[in-house]
Amino acid sequence: MSSGYFVTGTDTGVGKSIVSAALIHAVGGRGHRTAGMKPVASGCMETGSGLANEDADLLMSAANVELDYDLVCPYRFMPAIAPHLAAAGVGVEINTGRIMEAYHRIESVTDRVIVEGVGGWMVPTSATSGMADVAVEMGLPVILVVGARLGCINHALLSRQAIAVRDLPLAGWVYNRVDPGMEAADDVLKSLETLLGVAPIADIPYSTQPEPARIAPLINLEALAA
Ligand SMILES: Nc1ncnc2c1ncn2[C@@H]1O[C@H](COP(=O)(O)OP(=O)(O)OP(=O)(O)O)[C@@H](O)[C@H]1O
Ligand SMILES: [Mg+2]
Repeated sequence: MSSGYFVTGTDTGVGKSIVSAALIHAVGGRGHRTAGMKPVASGCMETGSGLANEDADLLMSAANVELDYDLVCPYRFMPAIAPHLAAAGVGVEINTGRIMEAYHRIESVTDRVIVEGVGGWMVPTSATSGMADVAVEMGLPVILVVGARLGCINHALLSRQAIAVRDLPLAGWVYNRVDPGMEAADDVLKSLETLLGVAPIADIPYSTQPEPARIAPLINLEALAA
């Protein structure tokens, strides 16, 4: 049986994939069999062997356990739109049970699974459920990636509250400096530390080519465990 983390973010494009892949490197580097999962991905490319997704590719290249694409990313859709709409566009209903089947199969061959959500915490996957329900079914502690940009304090506090409503522990948060031009970025970090009551498990600098393997050593895994 494995354990792991569910990685969510303050929004889409805040660095969930980069952070998830860095976490896989960091945890895998400790000797744990570690893999990633991206249960639902919109914004896929047609390849000779089916739809491929950049996030799933990134997670797979960071993992030290090789898995089938359909396990890592059971739901893949071409248009880069809200997943429930992308699914409806091809007559598919995203089913949490099918996601859980893939998750349990990954769990059976790993020690740790890092699951990347879609967009932010409240993103719907169908008319009746969303990614948060997937996190709840998995029962995983949550890591919140805060994309450092104007508005992120509000989004971080909203996310924390929404995660707490689902009774999942927030294992840690990451301050990811995605915007090199952000004003008062250090002051925002200090404010978030005060408001969230804990330091981030990583403060990731802006980089023109962010590489998970280089970001991995910046993650304080001890702070996560505590
Ligand atoms: N620290 C950073 N410095 C510079 N660019 C970054 C940093 N972190 C992420 N990025 C860039 O920001 C973009 C979004 O990152 P990423 O794909 O990891 O976000 P995401 O939250 O996973 O997005 P999605 O919601 O599409 O899954 C990417 O182009 C990535 O290279
Ligand atoms: Mg991503």
